[in-house]
Amino acid sequence: MTTLIIGGSGFLGTELIRQAKTAGHTTAATYATQRGDTAETAWYPLDLRDAQSLDAVMTEVRPNLILNASSGGADWPVTGQGPIRLAMAAAKHRSRMVHVSSDAVFSGARVHYDESCLPDPITPYGAAKAAAETGVLAVYPKAAIVRTSLIIGYGRSAHEKLIHDLAAGTRDGALFTDDIRCPVHVADLAAALLELAMHETAGIHHIAGLDAVSRHELGILIANRDGLDASRLPTALRANSAHRGALDVRLDSRATQRALRTTVRGVRQFALRLPEEAGRAALAAPAPLTGE
Ligand SMILES: NC(=O)c1ccc[n+]([C@@H]2O[C@H](COP(=O)([O-])OP(=O)(O)OC[C@H]3O[C@@H](n4cnc5c(N)ncnc54)[C@H](OP(=O)(O)O)[C@@H]3O)[C@@H](O)[C@H]2O)c1
Repeated sequence: MTTLIIGGSGFLGTELIRQAKTAGHTTAATYATQRGDTAETAWYPLDLRDAQSLDAVMTEVRPNLILNASSGGADWPVTGQGPIRLAMAAAKHRSRMVHVSSDAVFSGARVHYDESCLPDPITPYGAAKAAAETGVLAVYPKAAIVRTSLIIGYGRSAHEKLIHDLAAGTRDGALFTDDIRCPVHVADLAAALLELAMHETAGIHHIAGLDAVSRHELGILIANRDGLDASRLPTALRANSAHRGALDVRLDSRATQRALRTTVRGVRQFALRLPEEAGRAALAAPAPLTGE
């Protein structure tokens, strides 16, 4: 099985490479600006805006499976159009494709969202992710789309780095108490994505954590896990802030979870202080900020 991980240098991409290698896949991975730090995979520079270099990578790698973990934020040509270009290439090469999307496709108006809910984004990033979902399935109906929520793990996520910086007082900002999401551990998400990739299933899927928590509650859980002073975490209301975005979005992942053997934990479970998690968090703490 040859697996191509688009955005392999990113947070989720790094974990996907690690788990795919462990499962015995031959892997190739792409980066936009800087290759990832694992030597266990073949690396290719790739900008999803560039159809020619995408075709060259596809022709050389000839992947059975493509996992798209790339992110261009609110950049429409990357986040909205890039995955559609990728899906066209996957269809042409008859590769299985799993595309990672986001709970940002929802406005929060109905709070609870299962796989049947249609996107109603209220941010440019959410709109680009929704456009990509629609376009990917239009050009390649066999593709699987996986919406997820805040990705956490090993102290390496942007969310954990922010919490560490806020607790240390080295960064301005606050954790919203009215912004609710269903955080997922990067290892659980990667395992579920790889398992789903082995199924024939197509269309929309949800893979998010079981627990709905505010950004501030998430901060307290991570602070307790990592031995930080949670009382130092500043709080604010998103509703009163200049940050556009949904307030309460809870992905209901039960339908997808029923088809999977991988257990996707809630943050209250995976943020318990485990020696492995705390150790990895301590190792990763000095890493430079990457932003969300
Ligand atoms: N992080 C979260 O909390 C969260 C929540 C919900 C959904 N998601 C989704 O989950 C996926 C993975 O997120 P992540 O946090 O792991 O992302 P990430 O760490 O920001 O990594 C993004 C990856 O995309 C690559 N990339 C950037 N611009 C590109 C372009 N023009 N063409 C091709 N590749 C490009 C980056 O390469 P370089 O490193 O070389 O720039 C990097 O490998 C994304 O689809 C994201 O939208 C994330």
